[in-house]
Amino acid sequence: MEDANFDHWEQLAALHGTGQDRMYDLDALVDGGTLMGPEEQAALERVTEGRGVDGLDVLHLQCHIGCDSITLARMGGRVTSVDFSPTALERVRGLAEQCGVEVNAIEADSRDLPHELNQSFDLVYSTIGVLCWIDDVDAWMKGVARVLRPGGRLLLVELHPMLTMVDSVEPLVLDFPYAFDGGHVYSGTGSYANRDADVAWTVTQFAHSLSEVVMAAAGAGLTMTYLEEHVAMSFDPRGMQDAPLEADGQYRLRIGVGGQSRDGREPAYPLPVLYTFLATVT
Ligand SMILES: C[S@@+](CC[C@H](N)C(=O)[O-])C[C@H]1O[C@@H](n2cnc3c(N)ncnc32)[C@H](O)[C@@H]1O
Repeated sequence: MEDANFDHWEQLAALHGTGQDRMYDLDALVDGGTLMGPEEQAALERVTEGRGVDGLDVLHLQCHIGCDSITLARMGGRVTSVDFSPTALERVRGLAEQCGVEVNAIEADSRDLPHELNQSFDLVYSTIGVLCWIDDVDAWMKGVARVLRPGGRLLLVELHPMLTMVDSVEPLVLDFPYAFDGGHVYSGTGSYANRDADVAWTVTQFAHSLSEVVMAAAGAGLTMTYLEEHVAMSFDPRGMQDAPLEADGQYRLRIGVGGQSRDGREPAYPLPVLYTFLATVT
């Protein structure tokens, strides 16, 4: 399982941002733009109480090719980027050089962060598609708590377990549990950023309910300061089960139909798709 997941991420790290996908526009990033989504930006604003990351030691955990590491460094953060994929870290280093910012890229398993990093950070930033690769979320949270200084904060913006249950809306296929019950093996082709990409994979993923995440944080000594379940999101994580982009520019997960009104059936109320979890270590 571990090796297959590692190989998968090595492949995607080599592929993403090479002009073949819809998510990683590195030219825009190098030109001074950001690929950080509005949900992450709002979380960052909230976790820093509007002060930003200027002068903070920031750990970007499971950084992939490091797009948000660049943004955090441009905002004045002293950024360390961690991932288990050496190819991803090479991409981070190359990108940092192109963008003229400093990022310290470290290869590590996020369930077992190096002890040299203990109490080194003011903020751990980890977003979108990180926990489904982690079997032991307690170990992940304990590592986060350990590398934060007293008063340091965790910013986690993650796909909601309700969304990750759904493989397709029409027909309705729920092929992933809501809560942890061990590993689930999937095979397929393409990537979330390019469905047609020439990659084939078999991976193992792990479900984590919201309560498991909150309880893992509490067990690690982190105190929750904010939790939001979003019922709309600004981007389309994996085709959004073919849900259309709505008139306000947001994606929603609607299953079935809503109530009856004078004009007929209303659309179904949207289900949660994303959550923001902020916590601090005392
Ligand atoms: C979906 S990506 C994160 C994407 C990121 N939010 C972005 O926008 O680029 C998940 C990352 O987790 C990393 N990863 C998976 N399992 C890991 C582990 N056990 N330790 C460290 N990194 C891991 C992968 O290499 C990958 O870069």
